[in-house]
Amino acid sequence: MLDQGQAPPLSPETRKPVNPLMRRKPVERLVSEGGQGEGGTLRRSLTMWQLTMISIGATLGTGIFVVLGTAAPKAGPAVTISFVIAGLTALFSALSYAELAGSVPVSGSSYSYAYATMGELIAWICGWCLVLEYAVSVAAVAVGWGQYLNELLDGTIGITIPEAVSQPYGQGGFINLPALVVVLLSMVFLMRGAKESATVNSIMVAVKIVTLILFIGIGVMGIKSGNYTPLAPLGVTGISAAASTLFFSYIGFDAASTAGEEAKNPKKDLPRAIMLSLGIVTVLYVLVAFVAVGAMPWKDFEGTEAALAQIMTDVTGTSVWGVVLAAGAVIAIFSVVFAVLYGQTRILFAMSRDGLVPKVFAKVDEKTGAPRANVVIVSLFCGVLAAFIPLGKLADATSIGTLFAFGLVNIAVIILRYTKPDMPRTFKVALFPVTPILGFLACGYMMFSLDLPTWIVFGGWMAVGLVVYFTYGIRRSRLATEEVATAEK
Ligand code: ALA
Repeated sequence: MLDQGQAPPLSPETRKPVNPLMRRKPVERLVSEGGQGEGGTLRRSLTMWQLTMISIGATLGTGIFVVLGTAAPKAGPAVTISFVIAGLTALFSALSYAELAGSVPVSGSSYSYAYATMGELIAWICGWCLVLEYAVSVAAVAVGWGQYLNELLDGTIGITIPEAVSQPYGQGGFINLPALVVVLLSMVFLMRGAKESATVNSIMVAVKIVTLILFIGIGVMGIKSGNYTPLAPLGVTGISAAASTLFFSYIGFDAASTAGEEAKNPKKDLPRAIMLSLGIVTVLYVLVAFVAVGAMPWKDFEGTEAALAQIMTDVTGTSVWGVVLAAGAVIAIFSVVFAVLYGQTRILFAMSRDGLVPKVFAKVDEKTGAPRANVVIVSLFCGVLAAFIPLGKLADATSIGTLFAFGLVNIAVIILRYTKPDMPRTFKVALFPVTPILGFLACGYMMFSLDLPTWIVFGGWMAVGLVVYFTYGIRRSRLATEEVATAEK
């Protein structure tokens, strides 16, 4: 069973029927198909730094600008420790991502790694979870964007967007226009192709990093040592609950792994980009959290929507810096929407090439080298979701889907080490197999720390995914149609 993945699917051996759910796509084939779409190919133009910026772009945003405010009251000043714990969970999985991205440098991220190791059904489930990680989080993050936009408009020109057009139905309005606008703006840039998109993304990432460094520089002047005691007023339970919530802020470091088919030197650069982005983001998070809880008593975070902007205003005694921070946050959250949307289009590109979703997602525009139809469909889907559905609370659902996909990546590393021991690897997980096993367990632990409603949403999502697979993917899969064609010869 394990070496089934090594046989090219069109060879005569594949004439014997394979359990459809266990069909695997050989690693060699995944790699050799790299870039190929319907009617064109993706272009290899991204450097290591651009890949790093894609991952930071997708990661650093709502988590630090908004979710920190909801996590601080759970853990108290020890929220800094919660950031470290969530970061460690991400680190174990990041190591596994780095190994797989370096050896299977394609655009499908964990979906493709699962297809090569655990079979089609698990791959589909993984891809379906990635939609929760990417598409649903785009919509959830876009909703948060409107809050900071209002903060900025209020601080600069003294007006805010009326609730009727800045909140979805059920939350006091009819449509969340800012959320729709930020998704559509991202769509316009993404349609220009990977290189142009990477440039826009890098500029936005630079702005958000500078904003957070500015916060650290100014906020540090407001630190009062008394704010750090007691360090953990709600004990280990509080620290752990905050860590589960804050895991959301690390989601996205894997985005570079969706750019495997547009990277200039994917085998070398993808692992580096994944590890580098996680390192940069973790350092920033820990410093920002340390300064924030030092400058503002932890109980004051409760109910404060834009805590970091508030701290800037309090420390400097003028609202100017608060406005600067809000502007940085607007760009930061925009870049998350942008980079995550990019990732989602590329994952669907890979799934479409495999026949598990319609072909239109793999269509490449010859002029720009971008999967334009895919970009439009995904953006419209996310835009409408963000505009009309109150998704702001879906952060935990996004986390559970991501944790599931990360768990699978840790297993995929282990399977591939045994089935393909001699495959060239540009990056190897240290202390194998302890590290991926710890990574898997950490993901499981985090998943079980999430509450029942989150599990219910997740269960519903999985059920829909299975219906889609058994009514569409199982028959349309390219491996399935090839099997049928081979058998008929
Ligand atoms: N990690 C991303 C954010 O914090 C999803 O916005």
